[in-house]
This record gives sequence, structure tokens and C-alpha cells, in this order.
Amino acid sequence: MPPESGTVFEKNSTSYGTYNDMEEPLREGTPRSDRTRFRKHGLGKANALDSQFVLVISLRSILVALFSLLSAGAISYYLFQYPTFYKDAKDTEDAGEGLDPFAHDVGRLPFMGYNTWNAYHCDINETLIHETAELMIKLGLKDVGYNYLNLDDCYSERNRSASGDIIANATSFPSGMKNLTDFIHGLGLKAGIYSDSGWFTCALYPGSYQNEDRDARLFNVEWGFDLLKYDNCAVPYDEIIKEGVVGKFTRMSNAIYNLSLSTGRPPMLYSLCQWGREEPWVWARDLGQMEELDGEAGLRGVAAQTWRTTGDIDDKWQSVVGILNQNSFIAWASDFYGHNDMDILEVGNGGLTYEESKTHFTAWAFMKSPLLIGTHLASASKKTLSILKNTEIIAINQDPVVGKSVTPFRWGVNHDWTYNNSHPAQYWSGRTENGTVFMLINTLNKPADMSFNLTESPWIRAGRQYSVRDLWTHTSNGTAVRSFTAKAVPAHGVVALLLQDAGDEPEGTQPPCQREEWCTDRNGTRLDDIGFEPWNDGFQRKSEQQLRGT
Ligand code: GLA
Repeated sequence: MPPESGTVFEKNSTSYGTYNDMEEPLREGTPRSDRTRFRKHGLGKANALDSQFVLVISLRSILVALFSLLSAGAISYYLFQYPTFYKDAKDTEDAGEGLDPFAHDVGRLPFMGYNTWNAYHCDINETLIHETAELMIKLGLKDVGYNYLNLDDCYSERNRSASGDIIANATSFPSGMKNLTDFIHGLGLKAGIYSDSGWFTCALYPGSYQNEDRDARLFNVEWGFDLLKYDNCAVPYDEIIKEGVVGKFTRMSNAIYNLSLSTGRPPMLYSLCQWGREEPWVWARDLGQMEELDGEAGLRGVAAQTWRTTGDIDDKWQSVVGILNQNSFIAWASDFYGHNDMDILEVGNGGLTYEESKTHFTAWAFMKSPLLIGTHLASASKKTLSILKNTEIIAINQDPVVGKSVTPFRWGVNHDWTYNNSHPAQYWSGRTENGTVFMLINTLNKPADMSFNLTESPWIRAGRQYSVRDLWTHTSNGTAVRSFTAKAVPAHGVVALLLQDAGDEPEGTQPPCQREEWCTDRNGTRLDDIGFEPWNDGFQRKSEQQLRGT
């Protein structure tokens, strides 16, 4: 019997919602300018001599002299000049990295790490940072990719020094920032710092407006930080700033660029915190390529490799699902070197259920948001760590081949494209280096079955079947033909699946088209089913409520 249409493979309902602790463990040759130098030392034209003998002697002496000269030159060059030359060439090369926003790896993938804000707000100090750094190693977080440790607001004194520098807070950071970053770097981690594009940070510490070059140098060269989170508070009056939001953030972009150019170091990762107010996903990635603003020709800057898309996250499902909804409309904006930042994770902070935390983490990872842990690590539970350390989920976030986010292919509870902060898109898919990944989110307050036809995803081939890997239970779950049903997905829970092509579907699988809309036989007879209704000039898919008749 050929298989029937509809669900051929069904997910075993019991595997969802059960807790599964998954702890796991120019040297070659002579540089060009020097070749020129040797050429200059070479023979001029030989004088014409009368006698052949004299000519031979002279030629021999000249050759001997020349040989000695060349040898001496070469020896002294390699002894005294080559190292300097080589170093200069290296410096130029390195400095070149700062010139091209795509010539280095900074921000190519969403960055992973720890940020102090969600867990501690302003209550930070160097002991805490030391402990956190050590725990990142001890708990295996660095091993799975969390390699930035970022200080957020409130690390400084309220006022700049007499000479105009930001000063590390003498009480909470008495050893100074250079010692702190040395410690962090010593553990193989990178360090991040925070400032603001306006007069003040959001907690009213000094911002970097009009001090961009000085602060970039302080943060990167003197203090040793590798990343700058740059906030959006305390905007100067219009008559002073005379810039829109793009110009405001271009100032630090230019400063980071120029610093990189002068030091030869890769640029600091530029992490914009613009809360999505003026659509940073439209312009932040291009900051480095906008050559002039308001007639100021010649300015060049680094791209922002990441930009916040929403207001601050709260440790509540309503906040998580709202951020998910807003980002569902701009998921297209993330790719290599530029990512929608959905904010610091709340996993482990107590306001989300285990299922909600998994959903939160999966969505952030699959949508290529930076993954920043924001919980107190010393008391992080096994469950919390099992979520944060799910390497199969992290692998999608850090895919070296595919930079784009998953995108929704069906909203589910609501009509497609409905903006709803409680019931956002529920059915998502995306390409990965190893197949097509699916994310199903149950936004309802009770368990629900969730089904989709495979070719609703643009990445699935008609007429093929797919092996299914569950990225939370870490099990391989047979082969899906045409459709997939996840049974009893818990309230606010997630299903994360990786589908891999497993060859042709069984011969004679019915109906002839998996997707019936406008599918015809050779005579033009349509197979459209009842799942569509007229909408504007075409059709739209009926919502699940309509199909259920509720
Ligand atoms: C803003 C940012 C937060 C945090 C605080 C610090 O609210 O969005 O992420 O950095 O400022 O004051």
C-alpha cells in the first residue's frame, strides 16, 4: 500500500516536556623595495679596456668585488634591516585589517558570552567579575562558545578625571581595568565594556558624546577591552548634536575605525544598544560604508556587528514572547557581520518555566541573536546549565556556513503576518550547514499538537523524505514523509528539529502534491484544497481557528 497523505511520521508525545539533563561533558624572498635597493647597488656599465687580459682581470676583480659587496649587503640586510622591514610590513598588514570591516572575524558570528546587567544591574565589582570569569571556565561555558565577559553600566566614577578620562570606580574596581582585562584574557576569554552615545549612560555615568576618540582609545588600548556595547540614553539637544540617530552612532564607529587604523589591532566589536527605536537593522550594518554624512567627506567607520532591536527584556514570558513577535518581522536582517540583538538572556533568573526557558534560548539562538548569559553563575542550577550548554542548539547559532536567521513560514494561531505580542509566529524554518532546522513554538497556555507539511518550508524538496533529529531530546526520530506532527507540545514549549534529506519519498505517495495551492495536472486541473480563502486578489491560508471551526 502506498502511504496516505498527511501524517506518516509522528513524534512520540512523551519526549516533550520531560527534563533531560544533558551535561557534557613576507618571509619568502626579498621584499620588493629591497630588491630595488640591490638593483641600485649593482654594476654600472663597464669601462672599455684595450687589452683582453686586462679586460679579463678587470672583469674578474669586478665580479669578485661585486660578489663581496652583494654578500656583505645581504648579510647586513638580513642582520639589521630585514627584521625592521618585516615588522613594518606586518604592521601595515595588520593595520589593513582595521580598514576593511570584512577582513577580520570580529562579529562575523553572533557573539556569545556573559553580560552583568540582567543579574546584577549596577551592583558590580571586580571580585564578582573574577568569580564570573572563573565560573565560565569551571562550568564549561567557555568550552561551548561563551567567550566574552562584558561589563555593563555603572563601572565608573560619576565624573571624568581633570584631564577628561572616564575613571574606573575606585571602590568597586580598585585594581583598575587593565588588571581586570589581563585577568579575563589570562583565562582565554575576551572582555567587553559599556558606554553611551549621549552625555550620560542610562544610569547617569559619563557617556562618550564628544569624547569618542579618547574613550575608544581608553577602552581598547589602555584598558584592554575587545568589545563595546554602546547605549542610547541622554541624547544631546538638537541644536547641539545636529545629527539623526545614524550620525550619533557613526561618531563612535569612526573612532573605532580610526583607532584600529592607527594601532593595527582588529577593531573592537561594536555592539549597538539602540532598542529598535529607529530601525537599526536598516542602517547599523552599513555604518562603516557610509562615507559622508552632512557633507563631511572622508569619514570611514566600522559596521556595528550587532544591534538591539527592542526595549529591555524582563524575566517574564510576556516579555520573551513579545520580543520574539517583534523580531519575527525583521529576521531577514541578520547575517554574517550583522545581527539582531534580542537582549541578554533571562535563562536561570526564576521568572520563566523550564519550557519557557528552552523556548527563549532556542529562539534567540536560531534567530542569530548574540547569546549573553545574564544569570548568577554561582547558583545556576543543572537545568539552567543544561539549557545554556545545549551544543546542538548553539551549533545553529554559530553555523559557520549559513549566517541567516530562521524565518516564520506560518503564524498558526493567527493569520500570517499578524503582529501579536502573545501569539507570534509559531512555525519557523531555516537553512543550516547540516540540513533544515525547524522551530515550533506553542504560544498557548496549554499543551497542543503542532503539525506542518514539510514543504511549507522553502528549504525542503518536494518528493523527498527527511530524517528527523530532535535537538532537545538529542534523539534521532525516524523519517518524515510529507508532514510532521509534534504531539502535546507543553504550554509555551518549543520543538527544535533538524531535518536531513533521506532520499526519494516512497513511490506513489498521495496526493500528487504536498502543497495543493495551484498544483495542477498536465491538463491544468487544480488540486487546491479548502485550506485557503479569497483575500484581496488572491488567497490566504485559513487560520487554525477557522479550520477547527472555532
Ligand atoms: C539600557 C540598556 C540595558 C542596560 C542599561 C544600563 O537600559 O538597554 O541593556 O545596558 O541601559 O543602564
